[in-house]
Amino acid sequence: MMNDNFSFNPVTITGIGRYIPETVITNEDIAKLVDTNDEWITSRTGIKQRRVVSGNQTATSMASKAAIDALEFAGVKADEIDLIIVATSLPDSLYPSTACEVQAEIGAVNAAAFNIVAACTGLVYGLNIARNFIMTGTYKKVLLLGVDVHSRFLDWNERSTCILFGDGAGALILEQSSDGRNDILSVDMHANGEKAGELSIPLNGKNCPLVEPNETKQQYVNMNGKEIYKFAVSVVPRSIKDALIGAGLSIEGLDYLIPHQANMRIISSIMDRLGLKEDQVIANLDKYGNTSTASICVALMEEILNGKIKQDSIMAMCGFGAGLTWGTAIVRWRAKDKRKK
Ligand code: UT7
Repeated sequence: MMNDNFSFNPVTITGIGRYIPETVITNEDIAKLVDTNDEWITSRTGIKQRRVVSGNQTATSMASKAAIDALEFAGVKADEIDLIIVATSLPDSLYPSTACEVQAEIGAVNAAAFNIVAACTGLVYGLNIARNFIMTGTYKKVLLLGVDVHSRFLDWNERSTCILFGDGAGALILEQSSDGRNDILSVDMHANGEKAGELSIPLNGKNCPLVEPNETKQQYVNMNGKEIYKFAVSVVPRSIKDALIGAGLSIEGLDYLIPHQANMRIISSIMDRLGLKEDQVIANLDKYGNTSTASICVALMEEILNGKIKQDSIMAMCGFGAGLTWGTAIVRWRAKDKRKK
């Protein structure tokens, strides 16, 4: 017999974690590699330094550390996790997935695991996938990770791209809420593949022996910076407004904006277009650069640990990037750090 009585399970975030590698590359360091300077980079992007992997650090090792951080925050054991989703565009291997590697690394023996690719919107896309699995009752506890190792895919002779990115990993634990309150209030997601060529890392040349190697198109970030800039400031404010409408809120109901940390001028423009105040907007890209899928968690966690983001704060987490993809999640923050007495 068909069951028409669907009801959705409420979803909440119970944990957050991050990992940023130790090695720092300052603007002055980059000025020794290419024709640039700290003043140009700071005024055009807001970035002062970024962190990059070294030695045997990988996307998997960073994601695993962020995962353990988030599990401890949530007070959840690895073997309680039902599903691992890793949002990454720059995994260590085409397969196996980073999610499977993390599963083994942290001992999440009961979890299914897969990767998704939505570039710097990956965390927002992943959040929507995770919450739908929980809402429909398929899973109870999901570990969502965002990790990218851009430093290995940058042309360090190309000044318009090598200044922008840093490496890092972020993690969220999503669970079926135990008190019936739903905290993922809405998610708005978009893509426009017609503009895919504006930001890409082509897979060609050396790795495809059946085609002629194309030396001018190595597997580095290829970006039309101006187009990406214009795209971000034009679509993101609309997405935030639509996500707020989806959550039944107006801009006055929003406490904080946690934007993808790409460029301070993009962030300021979004802030102005929405009429938000400076202290409502979370930004730490001066220290870490653009950490891609990790950037929202990396920024959010800092403000949770320093107490700025408090219980019941309503946040808009918005991402934009290659694809092109963009989207916003409206989230009420209620997680308590279980490590604190
Ligand atoms: O996750 C999404 C990832 N992507 C982004 O967020 C990128 C968004 N776009 C941007 O952030 C900006 O477009 C950039 C920071 C990449 C570039 O800033 P811009 O104000 O759009 O500069 P531009 O590309 O128009 O370049 C202006 C000038 C050019 O020189 P000419 O042609 O005017 O002589 C560039 O060659 O600045 C030059 N330039 C630099 N000069 C010093 C470009 N990069 C540099 C540099 N240092 N690092």
